[in-house]
Amino acid sequence: MHRISRKAFAYICLLCIIGFQGLCMQGEVTKSVFGAMPYGTEIYIFTLKESTLKARVMTYGARLVSLEVPDRNGKMADVVLGYDSLTPYTTDSKTYFGAIVGRYANRIGHGTFVLDGKRYDLPKNDGDNTLHGGTVGFDKRVWTAHEIPHGVELTLISNNGDQGFPGTLTARVRYTLSAHALKIEYFATTDANTVLNLTNHSYFNLAGEGQGNILNDVLTIPAERYTPVNAGLIPTGQLTSVAGTPFDFRTPMPVGKRIDEDNEQLHFAKGYDENFVLNHRGDGQALHDAARVLSPQTGRVLVVKTTQPGVQFYSGNFLDGTIHGKHGHVYAKHAALCLETQHFPDSPNQPQFPSTELKPGQAFHSITEYIFSTER
Ligand code: GLA
Repeated sequence: MHRISRKAFAYICLLCIIGFQGLCMQGEVTKSVFGAMPYGTEIYIFTLKESTLKARVMTYGARLVSLEVPDRNGKMADVVLGYDSLTPYTTDSKTYFGAIVGRYANRIGHGTFVLDGKRYDLPKNDGDNTLHGGTVGFDKRVWTAHEIPHGVELTLISNNGDQGFPGTLTARVRYTLSAHALKIEYFATTDANTVLNLTNHSYFNLAGEGQGNILNDVLTIPAERYTPVNAGLIPTGQLTSVAGTPFDFRTPMPVGKRIDEDNEQLHFAKGYDENFVLNHRGDGQALHDAARVLSPQTGRVLVVKTTQPGVQFYSGNFLDGTIHGKHGHVYAKHAALCLETQHFPDSPNQPQFPSTELKPGQAFHSITEYIFSTER
């Protein structure tokens, strides 16, 4: 019998270690049925697992359904609000839990805009304005989906005239998980000039969904300016300095510290619901910091990085305790916060804001990363 040489033995050991590491790092993606729409279409849910994170994404609204993250002691909790089953997602037209929002996330004033000299009218679903793409936005559509390495890719075709918008738009969204981060990538093309603003509307509570409110969470937003709004939450068009206002989160600040101050903007929105102008390099493709949230109670830290020019910080003001979410948890006011990376609200009517136009031949691409860590 031949004895294997020391060199060969060492080589085999090395291959085994690399192979084992590869298996551990590979992560796992599985697909199952989450439910069915009233008209019969099945809704699938994809479960993404990496070493310390687990996420679930469904085809209804391309929504992030759950996101499990360890705390400072390694204890896992689901840090996003939502429901246990499909039906309440389909009957809730107000919260947008975990959804991909489009074709135009946030508000368009008076539900109308002019593009190339032609006026387009959209359904008004927020007083006199259009919110989050209209009555049947991307959050209420069934996307097609397939597994990709470490994640899932979802596709939606929004026809010419869908919710009043021009051009047939093909939107693709990729959720991928790595050891410490969830990445969402957005792609879109159109066959005629249109406007586009895509975001994800997850509600985060880093203590775990249903575990109290986010008023003690410590927030940082590295923005010098924000876009103040009128009583209908439509930007006035100004870019205003945050200095000396409750919107100055350039240094870490508990969310609740100034939320009850006598400030017109806070009154309009019943809390924070404001778009911040991010200090980015302007090439549209470099990731820059959008926000950092620390949950002092659990040590969980979320850092949001994006290629988008703005982030809407919404402090869950319209949650009113009537919603029974996962495990029957009642979601009251400020039960979570949203950090919606996006273009500025009402950009199609605000020529001084970065343009949201998409033309045939152009390929829209944006990235947002949600990076998790812990602090002692
Ligand atoms: C966004 C808006 C809020 C509110 C929520 C959904 O964050 O800016 O005003 O409409 O969506 O309730």
